[in-house]
Amino acid sequence: MFAPDFCTIMKVAKTLADFESARKSLGDKKVGFVPTMGALHEGHASLIRRAVAECDAVVVSDFVNPTQFNNKTDFETYPRILDQDCAFVEALGAAILFAPRVEDIYPAGTDYNKKVFDLGGLDLYGEGPRRPGHFNGMAQVVTRLFDIVRPDRAYFGEKDFQQLAIIEYFVKNLHYPIEIVRCPIARAEDGLALSSRNKLLTPARRAAAPHIYASIMKTRDMVGKMPVSEAIRKTVELIDAQPELKTEYVEIINSLNLRPVSDWNEAEHLRLTCAVYAGDVRLIDNIELK
Ligand code: PAJ
Repeated sequence: MFAPDFCTIMKVAKTLADFESARKSLGDKKVGFVPTMGALHEGHASLIRRAVAECDAVVVSDFVNPTQFNNKTDFETYPRILDQDCAFVEALGAAILFAPRVEDIYPAGTDYNKKVFDLGGLDLYGEGPRRPGHFNGMAQVVTRLFDIVRPDRAYFGEKDFQQLAIIEYFVKNLHYPIEIVRCPIARAEDGLALSSRNKLLTPARRAAAPHIYASIMKTRDMVGKMPVSEAIRKTVELIDAQPELKTEYVEIINSLNLRPVSDWNEAEHLRLTCAVYAGDVRLIDNIELK
């Protein structure tokens, strides 16, 4: 196993000061940025590969942000494997891995962890009401990281569809000169959306989890053929038919403003979003419906 300090080509910055000197060495290169919470997998790799292909130098951050966790156990059990992440990111060709300490991101005496953001109401549905404070905490860390990293482009996955829409909103609203690049969901061969939380699944639950994607793909055939509410009910039934799974919600939303629709013709672009418990592990997924 690699230890972070063994990384030779890529710089590993574990403090703000280390990062600032590494960032200086990039000069005026076109910088791509991939923010993550670590425990990296092929989903993250797809973002990093794309950033490496499209930019002169790539910064990856690896920081489990305490302010976006509304559940203490979820924060404490979140997988942390910095040594492996370091080797993984270096092999993909990134220039800097930024793995700061909490005091680098939220220094004592500053209000970075208290800022309240205008999220344009995009947090009123889906994950928003179910994870109070989550998106505001996410906005705190993403804006803080943008200010530190100063990228030209930042890459985010559609796996977290609502997060991506909210980031696009505040980047525009706060006039950040950063291009946000949307990246498609990377899935395991069996269809399960890749996630750091998959590492926490027992073998039986891991085996059951692909049933989420298989079920929501069936919803595509229901579009226009029955009321939206019935399609949602049937989808929940399909998912919950697998005893290891328990649906928290299935929503069919307008892809642009994220509002749940009650009629298929209410919006040009529709997306299905869902959160499902596999035991105590909460998994989210989404697909385009039209
Ligand atoms: P994390 O869950 O580590 O995800 C980092 C980035 O990888 C996000 O943009 C996420 O959407 C993307 N990603 C994760 N799994 C993916 C998959 N299967 N396919 C495509 N992209 C995937 O999202 C966060 O961290 C945090 O909220 C963060 C933005 C870093 C702020 O703390």
